[in-house]
Amino acid sequence: MSTEVLFLIATLAIVFYVWQKRRHSFWKRRGVKEIGPVPILGDTVRFLTGKVPFFEQIREFHETPGLENEPIIGVYLAYRPALVIRDLELIKTVMIKKFNYFNNRKLQTDPHHDALGYNNLFFVRSPEWKELRHKISPVFTSGKIKQMYPLMVKIGKNLEANVGRQPNDSVVKIKSLCARFTTDLIATIAFGLEANALQDPKSEFFHHNQAIFTPSFRRAIDFSVIFMLPALASLARVTVFSKATSEFIRKSVKYVMAEREKSGLRRNDLVDILLALKREAAASPDKNNKAKNLDYLIAQAAVFQTAGYETSSSTMTLALYELAKNEEIQNRLRQEIEESFGEDEDISYERIQEMPYLTKVVNETLRLYPIVGYAERECAQPAQGERFTLAPHHDMELPDGTPVYISAVGIQRDPKYWPEPEKFDPERFDAANRDKLNMDAYMPFGVGPRNCIGMRLGLLQSKLGLVHLLRNHRVNWCDETVKTIEFAPMCAVLASKNEIYLRVERVSA
Ligand code: HEM
Repeated sequence: MSTEVLFLIATLAIVFYVWQKRRHSFWKRRGVKEIGPVPILGDTVRFLTGKVPFFEQIREFHETPGLENEPIIGVYLAYRPALVIRDLELIKTVMIKKFNYFNNRKLQTDPHHDALGYNNLFFVRSPEWKELRHKISPVFTSGKIKQMYPLMVKIGKNLEANVGRQPNDSVVKIKSLCARFTTDLIATIAFGLEANALQDPKSEFFHHNQAIFTPSFRRAIDFSVIFMLPALASLARVTVFSKATSEFIRKSVKYVMAEREKSGLRRNDLVDILLALKREAAASPDKNNKAKNLDYLIAQAAVFQTAGYETSSSTMTLALYELAKNEEIQNRLRQEIEESFGEDEDISYERIQEMPYLTKVVNETLRLYPIVGYAERECAQPAQGERFTLAPHHDMELPDGTPVYISAVGIQRDPKYWPEPEKFDPERFDAANRDKLNMDAYMPFGVGPRNCIGMRLGLLQSKLGLVHLLRNHRVNWCDETVKTIEFAPMCAVLASKNEIYLRVERVSA
C-alpha cells in the first residue's frame, strides 16, 4: 500500500475518531447524566447485536443502575443522541401539555418506496397526521363500536367452537389461537371481509398477518433502521410490510372498495371512511391531496390490520398465561363470566363493559405486559417563538429533531409505583385501592393526543376473546409451558420468545 493511501486512511480514522468523540459527549457537555457509550454502537449494543428487542433496550436505559433517580438520561442510539424521560411530570409535559412540540414519532420508513408504511396513521407526520387522525377517529367512537359488536360476537362464538372442536385436555398453541381470533375480528369489522382464520388453517389473511411480526434477519434489519436510524431509511430501502404482504393488502382493500362502490352499501366502517376520503380527493382541485393516491388509502387499512391484530392477540395470550398460572384468579373470572351470561346465549355490549373483574384482569395484564413497550416522540423546535426547554430539570433547549423515549415497561414495573411489580395482581386496579394507584405510571396505550386510536376496540376484542374462551374451558399449565416469559429479541413489539402452550380443559357442556 502506498504512503498516500496509508496517510488517507489514517486521516479518515482520526477525523472519524474526533467526530465520534464529539458526538458521544453531546449530553456530557450539556450536563445531562449519560450511560457511557461504546464506539460506533453507542449505548445500543444489546439491541444492535440482536440480544434484546428495541423496547427492552429503552427499558434497560430507564433502569440504568445509579441513574434511578434521574428525571432524564442522555443516550446514544449508535451515533445519534436521544433522551430517555423518566420523570412522570415531564412525561406529561412532553406528551400532553407541550404536545405542539412533539407531534411526531421519530421512527421512519422509506418515504420513496414504502407508501403503505410511510403514509399510515402510525408513521405519518404532521400536519397530515392531525387531519388524518381527525378523519379516521369516527370509526372508533363507542357508537360505531357498538354497531359492530354483533359481528364481533359472531367471531367470539367461532373461537369457542374452534376450541370446542379440539379433544378435551389438548395442549394448544395459545398465541396462534388468539391471533386467528383477532385476524377474523379485524377483517370483519374494518373491511367487512371473512378471513376465516378460525375455520381454515390455511387462511391467507392469517398467513400475512403472521408474516409481519415473525422475526427474520431481513425484518430485523428493516426494523433496526426504522426504529433507530431513520436517516438511513431511504438508503436501506426499508419497508414496514414485506412485498408479499403489501400486495395482499392492496389486492384485498382494492377488492372491498370496488365492491362497496358498486353496491353502494354502507357499513360505517373503515372502508366507508376511505371511500369518503377518495371522493373528497377526486373533487378537490388540490393536486397534492394525498388521498388521490390509492396507496395512501390502503396504508390506513394496513395499519388497522397490523396494529389491531398483534396487540390484542398478545394481550389475550399473556392474560391466559397468567390465568393458567394463578388458578384462583381464573376461577374468580370464570364465575363472573358465568354470572354475566346467565341464561343468555350471548353477552351484551353493555354487560361486557361492566364486568369489573374482567377489567381488572385485562388492566393488570397490560400493566405487566404493555405490548408496544415504549413511547417515542420527536422534538420540533419552531423557527420563531418560544422554544421548548427541559425546565425545571434543565434549562437546555432540546435541539430540533431530538428523539425522546419513554419506557412503558420500565415505568409499569417500577416498584416505586407498583409494589411487587413482577406479581400478577388484578386487585391493584380494585376501586378500593384507587388512592394507591398512580395512573400517570400506567401507559399501555401511550399518552396524550397521539395515543392509541384503537384503545376501546383493543380492550373490547381482548375481553370478548377471553370471555368466549373461558366460558366453557379452563386453561392450565402443562409440561410444555414456559416457566417465565422471555421477550422475543427480534420482534418489533412485546412477545414471548417461546411459543406459549397451555392445556385446555372443558369445564361444562
Ligand atoms: C390491546 C390492544 C392495543 C394496545 C396495547 C395498543 C397500544 C398502542 C400504543 C402504545 C400506541 C402508541 C401510543 C403513543 O405513542 O402514545 C398505539 C398507537 C396506535 N394504535 Fe394501538 N394498541 C392496541 C390496539 C389497537 C387497535 C385495535 C388498533 C386499530 C384497529 C390500533 C391502532 C393504532 C394506531 C393507528 C396507532 C397510531 C395512532 C397515531 O399515531 O395517531 N391499536 N397503540
